[in-house]
Amino acid sequence: MFLVLHCIGNCIHGDMKIEDFERIAGIDEVTPAHPKRVTIGAREVVLFRVGDEIFAVENLCPHQQFSVFHQGVLDGCTITCPMHAWSFDIRSGKAVVGSGRIRTFELRIVGNEVLIKNSEDGQKFSEF
Ligand code: FES
Repeated sequence: MFLVLHCIGNCIHGDMKIEDFERIAGIDEVTPAHPKRVTIGAREVVLFRVGDEIFAVENLCPHQQFSVFHQGVLDGCTITCPMHAWSFDIRSGKAVVGSGRIRTFELRIVGNEVLIKNSEDGQKFSEF
């Protein structure tokens, strides 16, 4: 059945190493009908599955800072905030309706695990 994201198996492309990522969820925990809200360190992330891809965004709307994207309406790759209907592209984070952007995260799939890339300074999100 499933799933191609950015990578499958033990491959981490380019100069990236497995140490650059940490587990955030199992693949089976993320379905098109049920986004997965994950608290990792001090951050809340929502995983969305669109077709055979998974995307991760910070669960924080730039409009009034509500953490409600996990309850938003996903249409293709556009998530609409349930509070005041600003919407964002979950691939780029750019606003479709409203302004600003949401933070997106780089993911990899290794086996049946969804991994999130560490922050720019190399720190694991679970350690924040
Ligand atoms: S808080 Fe998200 S649109 Fe207002």
